[in-house]
Parts: sequence; C-alpha cells; structure tokens
Amino acid sequence: MPIHWLSSRPSPSHIDASLYRHDGACVGGRDAWPVDLPQTRAGHFDRAGRGMTARWGDAVPRQVSIAGRLDNRPVRLSPMVDSLHFDAHAEAYDRGRPPYPPALWARLQDDGLLRADTRVIELGAGSGLATGPMLRAGASVTAVEPGRALADILRRRWPEANTQITGAEDVPLPSAAFDLAVAATAVHWFDLDVVLPKLHRALVPGGHFAVWRNAFGDPTAPVTPFRKRVAAITDRRRALPPPVPGEFDTAAWVERLTRTGHFAPSSVECFSWTIELRTDQIRDLFTTFSNWSSAEADEAAQAVDDLGGRVLEHYTTPLIILEREE
Ligand SMILES: C[S@@+](CC[C@H](N)C(=O)[O-])C[C@H]1O[C@@H](n2cnc3c(N)ncnc32)[C@H](O)[C@@H]1O
Repeated sequence: MPIHWLSSRPSPSHIDASLYRHDGACVGGRDAWPVDLPQTRAGHFDRAGRGMTARWGDAVPRQVSIAGRLDNRPVRLSPMVDSLHFDAHAEAYDRGRPPYPPALWARLQDDGLLRADTRVIELGAGSGLATGPMLRAGASVTAVEPGRALADILRRRWPEANTQITGAEDVPLPSAAFDLAVAATAVHWFDLDVVLPKLHRALVPGGHFAVWRNAFGDPTAPVTPFRKRVAAITDRRRALPPPVPGEFDTAAWVERLTRTGHFAPSSVECFSWTIELRTDQIRDLFTTFSNWSSAEADEAAQAVDDLGGRVLEHYTTPLIILEREE
C-alpha cells in the first residue's frame, strides 16, 4: 500500500508512526514503524510483515492517515491524504469550484501587482480558475500543475498559458524571469523549503508572491441549517490536529512563508463573500475536497435537497502578499 506523508519538516531524521483509518481505527502498529530516514525527500520505509513501502510523494489511499512522532514530537504526518485527489475529480473540480471574488482581483490590480505586462508564475494552477482572470488582465502566465487531467482542461481552455505538467518542487524555472508568483488554494501542498528559494530565484528584484485560497466557510457568519448538517458529517471523523496552519490562520501562514528569509510580509487581507449553490453544485464542490469521501459529498448534497434545493454559503478568501527579499 503506497503511503504519502507530509510533515512540517521536509527531511525528518526519524519517523515513528502509526496508520489510522479516518474512523480512528489503528491499522498499523507504532512499534512496527520505527524508521531512519535519509536526509532527503526521497526517503522510504518498510513495514515489516505486510510489505508496506512508502516514498515521499507517493499517493496514500483516501481512508488512511498517518499519525505518530517525528523527531520525538507528536505529529500527524499525512493530513491531506492525496495531492492528486483533485486530478481524479478534474471535471467535478472544474464545474464545482466557485471563482475567486472580484475584490481580490481588484486588489491585485490596484496594488499594481497584476498589470497588462506582468509575467506570472502560477504554482498548482489546477484547471485554471486563477489563470484565466490573470490572462484576461493581460498578464503572461506560466502555469505549473502536476495533475494531467486538470492540466489538460487548463491547456484546452487557456492555450495562451505556458502550462507545465509537474510539481512546484520539480519545475525548472529561469532566473529573474517573473514579476509575480501566485499560489491560489495550493500553497499548503508545497514543500516550502524547496519552493520558496526557487521562487526567490525566479522572481525579479522587487517581485511579489501572492498566496490566497478560497476557504469554504466564514467563522464570523451565522451558522446556517446547511452548515449544521455539514458539521454533523465532519464531527463523525477522527479529529487529528492539522499539520499545517488552518486556512484562517493567516498569521501562522505568514510566519511559514517568511521564515526562510526569502520573502517579507507586505499585506494580508480577507475577503468575505456569499454564494447560492444548488444540490448538484454542492455535490461537485464537496467531491473536490480532498478530505471528503464521495459518500460524505452525497450526504451534503442530500442536506441541500432537504433544505429546498439551494443554500446560501458564506465563504472567505484570505490573501497574503509577500515581497521578495533582496
Ligand atoms: C485546491 S487545488 C487549486 C487549483 C487552482 N489553483 C485553483 O485555484 O482552483 C490545489 C492544486 O494544487 C496542485 N498540487 C498539489 N501538489 C502540488 C505540488 N507539489 N506542486 C504543484 N501543485 C500541486 C493540485 O494538483 C491541485 O491542482
């Protein structure tokens, strides 16, 4: 069974982990898992007796996560389960993910970061949800996306983008060739110790890195009947602490994105917005969430049906702008 692990430390020296299903059942003993990893992203470990092997970056089955101790500190090692989840649901992703709010694009343009002549490197571009508006603003975009199905949609829809099918860690980038780097709902997938120095080299002096994501919720909004139903679904899961900061924890993200010294914080802003979604749209959207099973997405869709076929959702888009350090 291939295992993917992701930790806050890209090159841990020792992992002592256990495998859990999402219902909390332990399916791999901690004692069976002591491993000494080489100081490289391509480390592997075996689980004696059951022939499990893992390489950094392998996909993990959706129902499994890894928790344990890393360099003697408790961690959850595989939070996001499968970074190619989106690619496996590329069509639903393309249909189901709502666009970024107009106020975000206005902010980037008002700040002079997105202009007709801006050269953009976009990492984790998906099917082009953010690529399109940047091209329409006149920018040139190099879009990096490891999922082939998503990249195919992006190429079909936006042939003028230079689409590279590979990961942010692996894409070769020319030096000082871009004015703006963008990660739209994607930065939490990257090995930042690799990606931040790479972006620093690829950006011109004075260049910026804009990091944002659609957070599908708004902690300040009233809890709607639909949200109560969603909470009933997620409450059934084993609650493991997330290994990366939560989507609303912009301070922690700024710290993570600046601690290598390649970028300095420039601004942080949060855009709140609402959208009315039908049953089919909720099914598509929730299917795209990497921590939701299809059965759970169906349950969320059923909740919309029960509530009349449409729900008003309150969403938030935090935007972090970083400036390239000299
Ligand atoms: C939530 S989607 C966001 C896609 C797109 N930026 C958008 O706004 O809709 C996250 C994307 O990151 C991609 N991804 C995952 N790991 C990645 C990596 N290591 N390097 C680059 N992209 C990655 C996924 O394939 C997926 O397309």
